[in-house]
Amino acid sequence: MNVLVIGGGNMGMTYAEAIAKSNFLTAGSLMIIDQSKEKRDELRATGLFEVHDQLDTCLSRADVVLIAVKPVHAAALMKEMKPLISTEQLFVSIMAGVTIDTIKQGLDAVKVVRAMPNLPAQVGLGMTSFTGSDEVSRLELAAIEQLLDTTGRSINLTSESEIDASTGISGSGPAYIFYFMQAMMDAALKMGFDQHDARLLVGQTFAGAVELFNESTLSPEDWMERVASKGGTTRAALDSMDENNVNALIQEAAYAAFRRAEELGKQTKGTEAKDG
Ligand SMILES: NC(=O)c1ccc[n+]([C@@H]2O[C@H](COP(=O)([O-])OP(=O)(O)OC[C@H]3O[C@@H](n4cnc5c(N)ncnc54)[C@H](OP(=O)(O)O)[C@@H]3O)[C@@H](O)[C@H]2O)c1
Repeated sequence: MNVLVIGGGNMGMTYAEAIAKSNFLTAGSLMIIDQSKEKRDELRATGLFEVHDQLDTCLSRADVVLIAVKPVHAAALMKEMKPLISTEQLFVSIMAGVTIDTIKQGLDAVKVVRAMPNLPAQVGLGMTSFTGSDEVSRLELAAIEQLLDTTGRSINLTSESEIDASTGISGSGPAYIFYFMQAMMDAALKMGFDQHDARLLVGQTFAGAVELFNESTLSPEDWMERVASKGGTTRAALDSMDENNVNALIQEAAYAAFRRAEELGKQTKGTEAKDG
């Protein structure tokens, strides 16, 4: 299988490196293209893949094309790609809010997978949700799952509405965690810790709690009960959060991201594509 990654920015580079370092492809079957010379020089320096500057030297050779440009560049890119593609090729887009229909129409393609990765893909701990058009076979979906798993874990969803929902959980989710971490660091600084110690206290607490959660089948609620004892310090903090409706506010935030993902999807229908 030959894979072409279009766009060698943060995400494209993350995927290309992860695919190259995995056993997913044989050597020499990974290509990448970027419009910026500076980016291409950076990509070449890795020595991991064939780097291109023109679609006509690489696009028709690819079985799978991973589109990793910003949504705002989608329309122009698809116009350029359209005369060079075939209906046998499979297109995987990670562009936020760009629907399968928009891509099918923009490229005149049939096999399209839409995927929503998240930032921890950069450290091999990504969570990617994906779904395919009806024309993508189960075998092809299984191959795409393996490709996406090179950056962490993935989940095959049945509809684009679920992709929008997963955007509100795993896509935007890392920012909610950082928000919580920032609040805890702010509290630590107010309590008199310096930046270094506040970072250590918060970072290690998150890492430890996440590890406990992932290593067990207990729910977060079960774990809260294990940490908190009646009349204790943790109970005082959890009661304060409950009184302030923090759970409901976090849920509302996740829904805000979900609704925004739906809105962006509607905006990109047709030819216009905006950034997420
Ligand atoms: N970052 C995330 O956490 C995240 C999460 C989920 C989804 N995504 C999606 O991932 C996609 C990529 O995001 P990113 O942060 O990696 O963007 P990025 O760093 O801007 O990378 C995109 C790259 O593609 C290049 N490019 C644009 N048009 C091109 C074309 N026609 N041909 C070849 N190369 C082209 C850009 O060049 P220029 O710099 O010259 O424009 C840039 O180097 C976006 O659609 C985003 O919605 C990102």
